[in-house]
Amino acid sequence: MDGPTDSAPVVQVDKVSKRYGRTLALDEVSFDVRGRELFALLGPNGAGKTTMLHILCTILRPDGGLARIGGFDVVRQPLAARRRLGIVFQEPSLDDRLTVAENLNLHGLVYGVPRKRRRQRIEEMLSLVELTDWADRPARTLSSGMKRRLEIARALVHDSEIMLLDEPTVGLDAQTRDRIWSYIHRLRDERQITVLVTTHYIEEVEQSDRVCVIDNGKVLALDTPAALKREHGQQLLRVIPKTDSDRQAILSRYANRLAGETRDTILLTSDDALVESVLGEYSGRIRSLAVEVPSLETVFLSLTGRELRDQAAGAREQTRAFGKRGGEHTR
Ligand SMILES: Nc1ncnc2c1ncn2[C@@H]1O[C@H](COP(=O)(O)OP(=O)(O)O)[C@@H](O)[C@H]1O
Ligand SMILES: [Mg+2]
Repeated sequence: MDGPTDSAPVVQVDKVSKRYGRTLALDEVSFDVRGRELFALLGPNGAGKTTMLHILCTILRPDGGLARIGGFDVVRQPLAARRRLGIVFQEPSLDDRLTVAENLNLHGLVYGVPRKRRRQRIEEMLSLVELTDWADRPARTLSSGMKRRLEIARALVHDSEIMLLDEPTVGLDAQTRDRIWSYIHRLRDERQITVLVTTHYIEEVEQSDRVCVIDNGKVLALDTPAALKREHGQQLLRVIPKTDSDRQAILSRYANRLAGETRDTILLTSDDALVESVLGEYSGRIRSLAVEVPSLETVFLSLTGRELRDQAAGAREQTRAFGKRGGEHTR
């Protein structure tokens, strides 16, 4: 077992499907999240992430399949399932007219947390997300990053064991995003909370225990970031030939490996054998050679034929875009 996780799955999703009219939003999606795992659901807009989370938090009913939270069926035992969950929705859901503390208190009331415990929990959670000094401010006066932190605190007031966070960092600046992630890590590391988080920012999932790649309602891959890169990531070889005729020679020799090119650079999909071959046959004809290790970007590219960053573009345009980018910044 990898990572500091317990073995029993606390979230079980088995062939869950959901259709909106003619859109099949989820197509027999299956995955398990283990106790104390930081599990990321990664996919572009429209992949089905929010639909999945809404089914898990019992807002939506699946058309088929089974989902369990802490062993409780979300359709047949929704209250027991929901009690174990804290959720941070994609859309802001605070009451702007209430203060920070009142937002938390209201949530505790709704969940039937006894008064004394409620007060203690609110204090603890405010301190966790560093909003203690803001307790009496109206929620509307908070920045969007602070509102996100308050929503995280709120989701924890009723002693939830499993956190669902739907794109918690979307629209936030890089520094605020880092801060939100540091709280997410603390939930797992210091509070033994299981975290299921969705995102379409690929660089964010590098630190998670496992990543489930989802696209068009289907699970494409599920593994640790390292294993995904081993299995699906492409290694690229960046070659800078000495002269134009060297360039032509290399291009025609490795035409079937071409991943992109710029005025002075050739990018080849690479493996150890290719590196040896290029070094063996062309070492006198190249100015430089660099291996670029597989990244989660190339994992997504090889699974879907698209880049996650630029969802509209097709595979061929991607290759051209890649070449152009390389030409502007020679690294
Ligand atoms: N209420 C709805 N009515 C109709 N279609 C919907 C509704 N909600 C989501 N969809 C569609 O279902 C698919 C999955 O959406 P969603 O779960 O929101 O994806 P994500 O959260 O990954 O962006 C998309 O094609 C979306 O347009
Ligand atoms: Mg969504």
